[in-house]
Amino acid sequence: MAVVGRAIASLARRHGGRSLGVAAARTVTTSAVPASAQAANAQPTGEFAGAGFRHGDSHKARAPRRTQGAVEGTKVSLMFRIYDKPGALVDVLTIMANHGISLTRIESKPTKASDKLFDFQVDFEGTPEDPRLEPALKDLRAHTVVADLQEAVNVPWFPTRARDIDEFSAKTLDAGAELEADHPGFKDAEYRERRRMIVKNATTFRHGDTIPRVEYSAQEVETWGLVYSKLREYTDKYAVSAYKEIMPLMEEHCGYAEDNIPQAADISRFLHQATGFTLRPVSGLLSARDFLNALAFRVFFSTQYIRHHSRPLYTPEPDICHELMGHAPMFADPDFASFSHEIGLASLGASDEEIERLATCYWFSVEFGLCMEDGQRKAYGAGLLSSFGELEFACSPDRPAGGRDDFPKYKPWEPEVAAVQEYPITTYQPVYFVAESMQDAKERMRDYCEGLARPFGVRYEPYTSSVSVDRALVRMEPKREELEE
Ligand SMILES: [Fe+2]
Repeated sequence: MAVVGRAIASLARRHGGRSLGVAAARTVTTSAVPASAQAANAQPTGEFAGAGFRHGDSHKARAPRRTQGAVEGTKVSLMFRIYDKPGALVDVLTIMANHGISLTRIESKPTKASDKLFDFQVDFEGTPEDPRLEPALKDLRAHTVVADLQEAVNVPWFPTRARDIDEFSAKTLDAGAELEADHPGFKDAEYRERRRMIVKNATTFRHGDTIPRVEYSAQEVETWGLVYSKLREYTDKYAVSAYKEIMPLMEEHCGYAEDNIPQAADISRFLHQATGFTLRPVSGLLSARDFLNALAFRVFFSTQYIRHHSRPLYTPEPDICHELMGHAPMFADPDFASFSHEIGLASLGASDEEIERLATCYWFSVEFGLCMEDGQRKAYGAGLLSSFGELEFACSPDRPAGGRDDFPKYKPWEPEVAAVQEYPITTYQPVYFVAESMQDAKERMRDYCEGLARPFGVRYEPYTSSVSVDRALVRMEPKREELEE
C-alpha cells in the first residue's frame, strides 16, 4: 500500500502537482519469473584498484566480456495509454484492483503524438503466466487506447545481496602483486612477497567475515608514521570539518596513531556503527562497475598493504595510507556515506556509458572533491586527503602551493558537467569541482542519479543488506571463462 502511495505521489509531481488518486491497494504477493536464456555484449568501462582508481594506471578494460542471460525478478510490467481527463487513472487502477492486482510501480509520460495522451508503465508482483493477467488486460483494453504486457528489461548483471559481492573476488583483473617497472618496490622481491601474502586475505574473504588482522612490521609502521604525521599537518588546514571531527574518533576507537597502523577490521566495525559502511579487503583490480556496485551495499573495497619504504611520500597506486587516511574517515560522515551510496545504487544494472559517467563523478568527488566552508575551499576527496602536495595545491589560496605556481580551474559541483570532464591520472588535477557543502554535493548527486535513463528503480533494504527492483529484469551474467582470460 505504501508503495502505491509513493508511486501516486511521484505521479502527481510529474503532473504538475495534481493528485490523480488511487482506488485500492492490496497485499503484495511474491513469485518467481521463469528463466530463459538470452545473449548480449557488455564491456567493462574502467578499472578500480582497492578503494578507487589505481593512480597512475590506466582504467581501460583489459579483456572484453561477453555475457549470457538469465531472467530474474518477480515483477510483471504492463503499459497502457489513456486520455488525460479527471478520474481516468482511477478508472484504470480500479480495474487492476478488481482483478486483485496490487501495483508496485507506476510511471507516466506524455506521448509524442499528443499532450492529452499519457503512457503509463505499471508493475505488479507476479509472472507472465499469472491467471489474473489475461482478464485484466482484456478489461484494460476496453477502457484504454492501448494496453499490453511488457517484456522484461535486459540489464548488465548486478548483485542484489551484499553476499553476492563475494563473486567479485574471483573477477579481480590481476593478483594485486604484479607491479609496474616504475613502481618503487618493483625490484624488491621481499616487498612483493609481502604484498602477495597480504592480498591472500582478500581471496578467501566472504561477506560477514571479520577482516583478518595484519601484523605490520616495524619498517611498515615507520613508513606509515612518516605519512601520517605529514598528512595530519596538512589535513588540519585543508580538510573539511567533518574529516577533522572524525579523525580524533578514529584515533580513539580504531587505533589511528603515528606509531600504529590501524586494522581494517576495527575501522570497518567503527564505520558500520556510524553509517552502515564496511570495508572489505580486495585482492586486485576491480572493474569500475563492480567497485561502484559494492557501494550500493555500503561496502568499500580497501587494500591492506603499504607503499614501498624507499619513497614514503609517494605511491603510484592506492595503499593503506590512501585508503585509511583518505577514504575511511569520510565514510563515518552521514552525508558523505549517503553520497557514495547514491552512486552505488545508480550503478546497479546501469549501461556501460552510465557507469563511465558515474565513475567520472566518483573521481571528481570521492577522490578529488572540494566543498566550501566559511568561504574557503576544503577537501573531502581521498585523493587529496592522502596527498599533502595536491591537497595544498587544490585548497591553498596562496602560491606557490604543492610545489606549483599556477592555479587549477575550479568549477561548481554539477554532476552532469563533472560526468564528462576529462582528467589526468598521473598529475595534479587541472580541474576541481567545488560543492557548496557536503549536503549540497549529496543532493546534486542524488538528483543526477534520479535523472539517469535506467529503465527500473532499486530500493535498498538496510536490514537485509539487499536491494529490490521494481520490474522484471534480465540480468546478463558474465561468462566465467571469459573473466579468467
Ligand atoms: Fe581512492
